[in-house]
Amino acid sequence: MNDAARERAEPSLIAIPEARESRGNLAFIEGNAQVPFAIGRVYYLYDIPGGTSRGSHAHRTLQQLIIPIAGSFDVHLDSGHSKTSFHLNRANIGLAIPPMHWRTIDNFASGSVCLVIASAPYEESDYIRDWDAFLLATREEAGR
Ligand code: TYD
Repeated sequence: MNDAARERAEPSLIAIPEARESRGNLAFIEGNAQVPFAIGRVYYLYDIPGGTSRGSHAHRTLQQLIIPIAGSFDVHLDSGHSKTSFHLNRANIGLAIPPMHWRTIDNFASGSVCLVIASAPYEESDYIRDWDAFLLATREEAGR
């Protein structure tokens, strides 16, 4: 994603294609197709205690697609300029999060599994874990 594309990028819900059958449903995701990036990593949150809040950080360059493959939860996003929240509760609807969005995830229903498809392997230096540093970085980006 270049700088211009990153500036335009907004969080968006993505319908994941499915093969729906009486035997059960099968949803599928391919890099550069259903997700707007090449897939570099898949991870998932599970056994999440009630009342937990996850996230509270942003990523400088990482793109992610978050899917509630079981249960439900809320994702709160803040770009530094605007805030938005999503209640994810369908295994065939994912939330694409562009870089530079502070996110928190909470309100996990019991038994929820949060699948995350990411554009790159784990890299701690891509995280911004301090809110003030995040706001500073968004202002620097806006001034470019
Ligand atoms: P973190 O991304 O901070 O979790 P969350 O945003 O859900 O609260 O990651 C928690 C810990 O797991 C942290 O020590 C880094 C480690 N981790 C990995 O080693 N690999 C990964 O792919 C991820 C996402 C996290």
